[in-house]
Amino acid sequence: MAKIMDGSELAKKIRSRLKVEVEKYIETHEKKPHLAVILVGNDPASETYVKFKEKACHQVGMNSTIIKLDDNVSEEDLISEIQKLNTNPDIHGILLQLPIPKHLDSEKIINLIDSNKDVDGFANENVAKLSKNQDALVPCTPLGIIRLLEEYNIMTEGQHCVILGRSQIVGKPMAQLMLQKNSTVTICHSRTKNIEEIAKQADILIAAVGKPHMVNRHFVKKGAVVIDVGVSRVNGKILGDVDFNDVEDIASYITPMPGGTGPMTIACLLENTIKCYKNLVIKND
Ligand code: GUN
Repeated sequence: MAKIMDGSELAKKIRSRLKVEVEKYIETHEKKPHLAVILVGNDPASETYVKFKEKACHQVGMNSTIIKLDDNVSEEDLISEIQKLNTNPDIHGILLQLPIPKHLDSEKIINLIDSNKDVDGFANENVAKLSKNQDALVPCTPLGIIRLLEEYNIMTEGQHCVILGRSQIVGKPMAQLMLQKNSTVTICHSRTKNIEEIAKQADILIAAVGKPHMVNRHFVKKGAVVIDVGVSRVNGKILGDVDFNDVEDIASYITPMPGGTGPMTIACLLENTIKCYKNLVIKND
């Protein structure tokens, strides 16, 4: 039976460590790390995620501000909000909750966020740095998965990591991070042929496609490590990309859903905000 990679537990451990770190910073610099989250419109899932992020900030003693904008906000007004946050010395991290309404050019807007405050690591400068193995702000979900692999001492060097999904948020940065960890990396996507056969070659299988329970036992090699990133709502239930019950007796390690990669994403968002704070506040003191 697979061992569970408990993301809730590790996230709790990380939050306790960050709380102590934040207290120390407040004492010496008299300023709390402060995350600003921009939420455009009223998508219920996004509203829930943003509330989780705010709660996590408060748990570790950080400030958080949610800026709620109407779903028909003009691009000009959204850009003006971002510029205010960029120049505000009391704001250290800026997150634009995705997706944003179609009339707004998300690529353009993400790139207007000051790259030193880009806690999602989605802006071009951070994407380029990550791909060149330079110190970067790294997208939170892939970073959280690396933290989980490290916590459970999963060997990555020389291991075949198969990533299902080529998104800018998970698949691509995940591939970069696993290359840095000396894995052999394959990315599969919607046009990949024989996806099942390729997945079955993985020592580490990371599913990030958003297709509920797509990964069943036929995708998994005996002893593989299986990481589930998918979050889909089906008839009021939240399902991952991995059919946990079908796979758990084949995998060596597996993330649960919920309680796997989700809480780790938020823990890494806190880490990234503190990283921005350190660069912006401590370096200038
Ligand atoms: N929507 C879904 N995942 C994410 C994420 O990691 N960051 C942001 N900003 N929006 C998201």
